[in-house]
Amino acid sequence: MSFLAKYGPWAVVAGASEGTGQAFARRLAADGVNCVLIARREAPLTALADELRARHGVDCITASIDLAKSDAFDRIVEAVGEREVGLFIANAGGDPHGTTFLDQPVDSWIDLITRNVTTAVRCCHHFGGKMRERGTGGLLLVGSGACYGGANNMAVYSGSKAFDMCLAEGLWAELKPHGVDVLYLSLGRTDTPELRRFLTEKGLPVPSDLATPEAVAELGLERLPHGPIQNFGQADDEVGRLPQSAAQRRQRVEMIAQASQAIYGKK
Ligand SMILES: NC(=O)c1ccc[n+]([C@@H]2O[C@H](COP(=O)([O-])OP(=O)(O)OC[C@H]3O[C@@H](n4cnc5c(N)ncnc54)[C@H](OP(=O)(O)O)[C@@H]3O)[C@@H](O)[C@H]2O)c1
Repeated sequence: MSFLAKYGPWAVVAGASEGTGQAFARRLAADGVNCVLIARREAPLTALADELRARHGVDCITASIDLAKSDAFDRIVEAVGEREVGLFIANAGGDPHGTTFLDQPVDSWIDLITRNVTTAVRCCHHFGGKMRERGTGGLLLVGSGACYGGANNMAVYSGSKAFDMCLAEGLWAELKPHGVDVLYLSLGRTDTPELRRFLTEKGLPVPSDLATPEAVAELGLERLPHGPIQNFGQADDEVGRLPQSAAQRRQRVEMIAQASQAIYGKK
C-alpha cells in the first residue's frame, strides 16, 4: 500500500504552526496527503497552508484551536467535518513553564494535562475508531525522553508523556490487528522555536547537537509502521532509559536534579 493510501487522504496535525509539527505537515504534503493544520496562532497556520497548496497541490484547512481547553476536541471534529482522516499526529506537547510544580498555579498544569492527555485521548478514540472501521491509518504521538521517569521541574510534563507512551503501547497492541499503526516518537532536544525561546529565557546557549524538525518528521513517518515506540537517535534494540528498581529510580531522579541545577537553579 502506498503511503497516501495507508495514511491519507487527510492528516490532522495538532500543533502545526512551527517546529516539528510544521515539518510533519511539509513532509506529508510532499507525499500528497491533505492536511488539517491546528494550533492557536492562525497566521503561521495560514502561511503554511498557502505554502503547501502552492508547492504540493494538496488541500489544506487551518483551525485555530487551543488544545488545552475543554472544547478542543469538539472544535477539532467540527473543523475536520466529513473528511477522511488516515493519520492523526499529536505534536503539541511541550512544557511552556519549566518550573517546579508548586511555582505555577495548578490550573496551568491542568491545562497541560488537558492538551497532552485528555484532548489526545479523545482524538485517538475518535480518529482511531474510524481508522479501525476502514482497516487502515495511523496515530502518532510525539513524546519526550522525559516519559521514562519523573524529574524536578517537569513533574506534570513527564507524567503526561509517560501516560502518552503507555497509551500508545496499548493502542498499538489493540489496533495493529485492524491495520492501524500507532507510534510514540520519543524526542530528545530538538531545534524548535519553542526550545529556542526557552533557552533564551534561561540565558543558555543553543547546544550544537540538537535534532532538526525535518529529521524528526522523517524518522517519525518512516517508523510509524514499526511501533509502538521509537526513541529518536537510538536504534530499536538499544538499551532503554527506564530503571526498574526503587533504588535505581531514586538515583536517577537525584542525578537529574543535580545536573539540572544550572538550568533551573536550586529550587
Ligand atoms: N523541542 C524539544 O527539545 C523537545 C524535546 C522533547 C520532546 N519534545 C516534544 O516535541 C513536541 C514539539 O515540541 P516543541 O518544542 O515544538 O513545543 P510545543 O510547545 O509542543 O509547540 C509545538 C506546536 O504546538 C502548538 N501548541 C502548543 N500548545 C498548544 C495549545 N495549547 N493548543 C494548540 N496548539 C498548541 C504550537 O503552536 P501555537 O503556539 O501556535 O499554539 C506549536 O505549533 C512536543 O510534544 C514536545 O513535548 C520537544
